[in-house]
Order: sequence, then structure tokens, then C-alpha cells
Amino acid sequence: MSSERPLVLHTEDTSAPCAIRFEQVSKVYRLFESERKRFLAAFSKRVPFEEVRANDCLSFEICRGEAVAFIGRNGAGKSTALKMVTGVAYPTSGTIEVNGRVSALLELSAGFDAQLTGIENLRMRARLWGLTKEQVDDLLPRVIEFAELGTFIKQPLRTYSSGMRARLGFALAVNIEPDIFVVDEALSVGDKRFAEKCLERVHEIISDSKVTVLFVTHSSSSAQEFCRRGIVLASGKAVFDGPIDAAIEHYDTRE
Ligand SMILES: Nc1ncnc2c1ncn2[C@@H]1O[C@H](COP(=O)(O)OP(=O)(O)OP(=O)(O)O)[C@@H](O)[C@H]1O
Ligand SMILES: [Mg+2]
Repeated sequence: MSSERPLVLHTEDTSAPCAIRFEQVSKVYRLFESERKRFLAAFSKRVPFEEVRANDCLSFEICRGEAVAFIGRNGAGKSTALKMVTGVAYPTSGTIEVNGRVSALLELSAGFDAQLTGIENLRMRARLWGLTKEQVDDLLPRVIEFAELGTFIKQPLRTYSSGMRARLGFALAVNIEPDIFVVDEALSVGDKRFAEKCLERVHEIISDSKVTVLFVTHSSSSAQEFCRRGIVLASGKAVFDGPIDAAIEHYDTRE
């Protein structure tokens, strides 16, 4: 089934054997000469633009509990694919099915409200994620402790540095026990000590065999450590999908 119109189906059904399914998924970004032209394009079809095909007819299925590394050069389309799993980006065509709750380490502070305090933002995000009030009450102390923001946790987010915002997003993302965990390793969070603590926690989650993991990395050794399967992307296309060692060899020798 391939549809003309893009379609994203998101369910909480964790009994489905397939956690994620991409069918003929493409994402095309439009590049304008300036922000002004981008704005004008909303009103006129005559504004010129170029197109970037960030993902090009991607099709794959990821089973529940599988850990898959996405490998490829800068600009190959890895983050774009992950963003569509989390709902931050929307496909231009094709079908995406996601079964389970997703937690993501990308765009960490997207969706936070600058006027609300750290705690209020955490509460809002956790409720949006589908947790009950009781579950949120139970979770918050752990998240607050992990974030290590001291008294700032009660201050509005506009008073935070960018690293502090990222800490808040990270602390929530790694403490909510997701069904599907999406990690874009290129992301570095906070200062050195906090980044190390984060990495340790990420490794813990990835090692849990119940969690489905999508892992973007430029490090062959981390990909081999955590994933048995690798998908190699090149210019938005999946050029290899198979055992991780073979995927890395393909990337090292051909891409
Ligand atoms: N918001 C955007 N607007 C326009 N083009 C974009 C946007 N986001 C990504 N692109 C383009 O889409 C392509 C794929 O980008 P993407 O971020 O998915 O690559 P990547 O594989 O994650 O690269 P990296 O290893 O550098 O993180 C690139 O050509 C990039 O310039
Ligand atoms: Mg990227």
C-alpha cells in the first residue's frame, strides 16, 4: 500500500511486532534565498526555491526490541528520518507507522514554554506524553534530581542558558521509560561531566532488550556495541540494510 498523500500513524500498541514501519517515505525541504522569500512563498507560487531531497523513498520495518544504527555521511538524511519518527518533521510522501511511546534525544528543548518554570514545563511535557497526574508526581523527583538545576528548576525557562535547557529536556527524555528510544549521538548535552552522566544513562536504556532503539552515530564501535542491524543512508536513500558488521563495511568501503 503506497499512498499519494503522506500518512503518519502513531499508536500506543506495544503488542504489534513491528515498532516502526517506513513505506516509500520521502522528505523534501524547500530552500529559499532569504527568510523574506520563504514568507512570501506562503502567498505566491512564483517565489523561486530549490529542493533538497533529505529522504528518498525509504522503506524498512523495525521489530519491537530491535536496535538499529543509522549510518551515513553528513547530510545523508539520518536526522531527518529520526525526526519523522518523533513527529518533529512530517514526510512529503509515503507512510510512517510508529507503535509505542517514543522518547527522543534530539531537539531537546523543542516544545518548552519560555514563560513556564522548569517544573511546569516538565509537568506539561510529561502529561502531553500521556502520563497520568499520579505517574507524573512519581516521575518528577527523579527527573529534577537528574537535571541538577538547583533552584533554577523553579525559575522560568527564559532565565536558563542553552545548556540548562538541554539538561531539562535530556533529564526527562532518559527518565520516562519509552517503548521506542531515538538517539542522535551528534548531540552533546551540557558540560563534560553532565555529558558523561548522560552517555552512561543512554547506554543503560539502549542495553534494555525490551526497548526499540534507533541510533544515529558516526562511531563504528558504538554502533557495533549496541546494534545488531545497520541501515546505511546515502543522499537520502537506504543503500544497505543488514547485519551491523556488513553495514559498517559497506559504509567504509563504498560510501
Ligand atoms: N530544515 C531544513 N531545511 C532545509 N534543508 C534541510 C533541513 N534539515 C535538513 N536539511 C537538509 O536535508 C539533508 C539531510 O539532512 P540531515 O540533517 O537529515 O542529515 P544527517 O544525515 O543527519 O547529517 P549529519 O551527520 O551531519 O547530522 C541535508 O542536505 C540538509 O541540508
Ligand atoms: Mg544529523
